[in-house]
Formats: sequence, structure tokens, C-alpha cells
Amino acid sequence: LFIIGSASVTWKCHVIVLKTTCSWMCVATVGFLLFLAVCLLYLPDSVSQSFASTAEKSSEVTLLIWTHPFSRYRRLPDCQALYQVSGCTLTDDWRAYPHADAVIIHHREIATNVSELPPEPRPRLQKWIWMNFESPTHSRGLWRFEGVFNLTMTYRTDSDIFGPKPRLVVWVISNWSESHARVLLYHQLSRYVQVDVFGRAGRPIPGDSGSDSLVRLVSKYQFYLALENSQHTDYITEKLWNAVLAGAVPVVLGPSRDNYERFLPPEAFIHVDDFATVRELAQYLLLLRRSPARLQRHLDWRRSYRVHQPSFWAEHYCTACVAVKNAKGRTDVVTDIANWFQS
Ligand SMILES: *[C@@H]1O[C@H](CO)[C@@H](O)[C@H](O)[C@H]1NC(C)=O
Ligand SMILES: *[C@@H]1O[C@H](CO)[C@@H](O)[C@H](O)[C@H]1NC(C)=O
Ligand SMILES: *[C@@H]1O[C@H](CO)[C@@H](O)[C@H](O)[C@H]1NC(C)=O
Repeated sequence: LFIIGSASVTWKCHVIVLKTTCSWMCVATVGFLLFLAVCLLYLPDSVSQSFASTAEKSSEVTLLIWTHPFSRYRRLPDCQALYQVSGCTLTDDWRAYPHADAVIIHHREIATNVSELPPEPRPRLQKWIWMNFESPTHSRGLWRFEGVFNLTMTYRTDSDIFGPKPRLVVWVISNWSESHARVLLYHQLSRYVQVDVFGRAGRPIPGDSGSDSLVRLVSKYQFYLALENSQHTDYITEKLWNAVLAGAVPVVLGPSRDNYERFLPPEAFIHVDDFATVRELAQYLLLLRRSPARLQRHLDWRRSYRVHQPSFWAEHYCTACVAVKNAKGRTDVVTDIANWFQS
């Protein structure tokens, strides 16, 4: 993982943070990668879950990737090997167009020139999937595409193709000691909000095979309690980075806010010390849950940082494949794409 950020720091857990000096264009194009690492981390799981439910009716599906995003070639994944999704043929060969079950069309390449869309009339029953992981501010020409597509695949949770809705607060704890400040905090916080506890002192982490499964678990939550077992200067462990990797907003207990700000932008985490009482902290978390725009403020910093995550597109393609199987025999039309996406 590489994050381009403010200080130049090599962290214990091999996270590298460097300042970016990109233009806004660059920021926009790379920012979505990180922002969607959030979604990405949902995906293997949701892929296999949806797969489980559709295994029986699974038929062969051909998905045509109309253009490689940002005109950069990426080798197409083997969904079976990566996510145990069977019966998917992914291709970028336009000769497959007449018999493709679905065509994935990336917004950027068609944004300014509608002629870059596949030819009409389209094959009967074929689905056109609108793929876009940029924000509306960086998505031009939306108005051209009303009623054109059949399914949407974006970072929005109400897209046709996406993972499950996030859960609220997760804590992973191995050494439970009533004398730790973090356990006291947990007791208080869980009076106001649901806190799911995993680890040796809680439920087992699903698919426990190291940090990958931990990050995948955390990515299902909006908030991750990154509570150090004791509070000392610069004693900030991999807990914080697990949250960052997973795209959950870390709620931290450890050294001072200033100390954390040496490693992350101020809005990238919620510090327990920011609140007079644990009740106020809980209220703030519930407020953010109700208000995605407020929550977004804690995630926006990611736009100016970059995560190098090579399997990003692969997972989306395989997720789309599952969705196309599920949508077989159905008619879908995405009307009102501009208003919906900008809402
Ligand atoms: C739009 O795309 C078509 C097909 O690729 C191409 O022939 C045409 O020159 C493009 N128009 C502009 C204005 O770029
Ligand atoms: C668990 O916490 C107790 C109490 O602070 C401490 O004495 C013990 O060393 C800790 N164990 C581990 C494995 O960190
Ligand atoms: C896809 O959208 C087009 C354009 O609105 C529509 O004519 C077609 O029936 C839709 N097809 C499917 C399979 O949903």
C-alpha cells in the first residue's frame, strides 16, 4: 500500500505516507482509487455472498469491457480463481459485442463524446453498465446519458452494483483487561451505540487468515475503534492503519490529537478527547451516520492521497458479473442518471 500524504513517514506496518503535489486532475483521478478502496474491500466478500445465492442458476455470462478505464490497459481478472465466481467470461475484444450479455462502459471515456458508446441498436437483452467512480464534480456530461444504461456501478451504495450497506462501529480486541482505559470506553460507548466486538475477546474474525480478513471485516463498518492499550507519545499501532486501509473512520484513543496529526490529516480520525463525554462522542457518530455529507468530510482527505491497489478493477468486474447473472431476463433502464448521481 502506498499513500501519498503529508509527512514522509515509514510506518511499522509498512505504510508509506508522502505529500502529493498533483494538480486537481491528478487528485481527482487518484482520489477515487483510494476512496473506492473502501468499496473495494467490501467486494470479495459480497461477491462470494451473492455468488452463494446465485450458484444454482449461474449460467455463462460474457462481460465486455468497452474501454479500459482512463485508457490504461489492465489485464482482465479470472473471477473464478480470484473470487470463486464461475461462468464469467470477461473480454475487451469488441468482436464479442453481438453476443455479450453486458457491456461495462466507463464514464470518462464517453463523457465528452457519445459516439464512443457501443453501436446501436444494441443486441436484445444486452445490459449496458455505467461504471463511474469519480464524484459528480468530476463527471462531465451526465445529462447526455439519460435512459441509455441498464445498470449503474459507482461508489454510491444505492448503485445497482455495490456491496452491502455499512454497519456502524467495530472493535477488534485481543487483550481484554478491565483496567484498560479502552475497555472503560467500550463499556460507556456501547450504552449508546451498537459496538460489534471481534478478536480473541469477542467474536472470531470471519475467515481469519491475517490482516486481509481483518481489513475486510473493518471495511463493512463506518467506524473502527482504534484504541491503544496504553497512552504514550507516538504509540500508535497498526490498528489505525487497519482502519485507514479499510476505509472506516478511525475513532482513536491513545496519545494526543496533535500526536496523531503528525501521521494523518486532522479530519481523518475522530479523537476521543474531542468530546467532553462518551455520550457526546456517541451522538456525533450517530449524527454522521444520518448525514452522509458530514461523514464524507472525514473521508475527503482520501481524495488527495493515493492508495496503490492493483485489484480494484478486477473486483468490480467480477462483482458486475454476478449482478448481470442476477439481472438476466429482467429489463432495467437507468433514467434520471444526472439527478440521481448528483443528489
Ligand atoms: C467522437 O468519437 C468518434 C468515434 O470514436 C470519432 O470518430 C470522433 O472523431 C469523435 N469526435 C470528437 C469531437 O472527438
Ligand atoms: C494484557 O494486559 C495486561 C494488563 O495491562 C498486561 O499485564 C499484559 O501484559 C497484556 N498482555 C499482552 C499479551 O499484551
Ligand atoms: C436497456 O436499456 C435500453 C435503453 O433504455 C432499453 O431499450 C432496453 O430494453 C434495456 N435492456 C435491458 C435488458 O434491460
